[in-house]
Amino acid sequence: MANIAITRSATPGQTPADETLRFGKVFTDHMFLMNYDAGKGWHDPRVVPYAPFTLDPATCVLHYGQAIFDGLKAFRGPDGRIRIFRTPDHAARLNRSAGYLCIPQIDPLMIESAIRKLVEVDQRWVPHLAGTSLYIRPTVIATEAFLGVHPSSSYLFYIIAGPVGAYYPEGMNPVRILVSDKYVRAVQGGLGAAKTAANYAASLFGAQEAEQAGYTQVLWLDGIHRRDLDEVGTMNIMLRINDEVITPPLTGAILAGITRDTALTLMRDWGWKVSERTISIDEVTNAAKNGSLKEMWGTGTAAVISPVGELGYKGENFVINGGKTGELTQKLYDAIVGIQYGTAPDPYGWADPVETEIAASRSAA
Ligand code: COI
Repeated sequence: MANIAITRSATPGQTPADETLRFGKVFTDHMFLMNYDAGKGWHDPRVVPYAPFTLDPATCVLHYGQAIFDGLKAFRGPDGRIRIFRTPDHAARLNRSAGYLCIPQIDPLMIESAIRKLVEVDQRWVPHLAGTSLYIRPTVIATEAFLGVHPSSSYLFYIIAGPVGAYYPEGMNPVRILVSDKYVRAVQGGLGAAKTAANYAASLFGAQEAEQAGYTQVLWLDGIHRRDLDEVGTMNIMLRINDEVITPPLTGAILAGITRDTALTLMRDWGWKVSERTISIDEVTNAAKNGSLKEMWGTGTAAVISPVGELGYKGENFVINGGKTGELTQKLYDAIVGIQYGTAPDPYGWADPVETEIAASRSAA
C-alpha cells in the first residue's frame, strides 16, 4: 500500500470551545486526498492543508450526481485516548456505495489508513466534552469534465473532519417525526442503500414541509405501497411493541446503518427478541392506540440514538411513552456511548484506538 504523504498547514486554526459545538459547521486544519485516473488506478494518497477545490464547470459530479460519502466519528475518552468507531465497517460501506454508483473500488486498508492518518494529524481537534466528537466525512466525487451521462474516468477521494456536538438541536431529548405519505425517498432497485447525494436531495422538500409543520424529521415509507416503514434519512428506525424490537429489513431501499447493526447486536446479546421485518405504518399506529407501542428511536452515526417522542401521520399525532425517552432507548445510548468513549468493555473490538501524542508519550515514559 502506498505511503500517505503529509504536508502540514502553515496556518493552523483556532479550535472552538467544546460547549459551542453544533454539527457540521467547523472543519480541521487538514484533509486527505487521493486521485483516480482510468489506466492508472488510485494514486497519490496525501494529507494536505484544508482548502477549497477548483472544479471545471462541466465536472460531471455537478451535473449527474456521481458522488458517495460516509460518516464516522472519533471520540476522546476520559483517559485522553482517541478511538474511531468501527472504521473497517465504514470503509466496507463506502465501497458498497461505490459499487452502486459505478465508482472504482478503493483498497479498504487504504481507506482505514487514510482515516486514521487524518485523525492523527488533526488530533488536537478531537473535542474533550462528553457528547462531542470528531465527525469524519470520507467522500468520492466524479471529476471528469464532460456533458453526457456515463461514469467518469477520473475521481477524487477526499476526507474532511470537524468537531461536532449533537446532530439534532434536541440532543438526546425526544424528537417529533412526521410520517410522509406524500413523498418518497427511494425505491427497491434504486439507490436507497447507497450513501449518495441523490438520496439526501430527494429528502429535502418533504423535510422542509415537515419542519414547517413543527417536526424535526420525516419517516419515509416504502416507495411502492407507501405502507411499510423505511428509514428517516438521517437515521434507521427501531421500535418496541411489547417485548419485540422491530426494525425494517435491509431490502436495498434503506441504508445499512452501522449504528443500526451496533444496536441490534447489543440487544440480541441482552436477550431481546429482535426482528428485522417489514412493519406497516398501520401496525405502528394501532400499537400506539392500544398501548403496546412502548418505545421508538432512531439510530445513526450523527445522531447516535435519538428517541422519538411523537409521530405525526395523516393529521393525527401519536405520543410515544408519554413523550419521554424509553428505558431500552436510554440503555442503548449509554452502552454505545460507553464503548465509543472507552468507558465500557468493547467485546467486539469496535473502538479503534488512534496513536495520540498522549498515548505515545505514555508508552515512551
Ligand atoms: C450520518 O449519520 O453520519 C449521516 O451521514 C447523516 C447525515 C445526514 C449527517
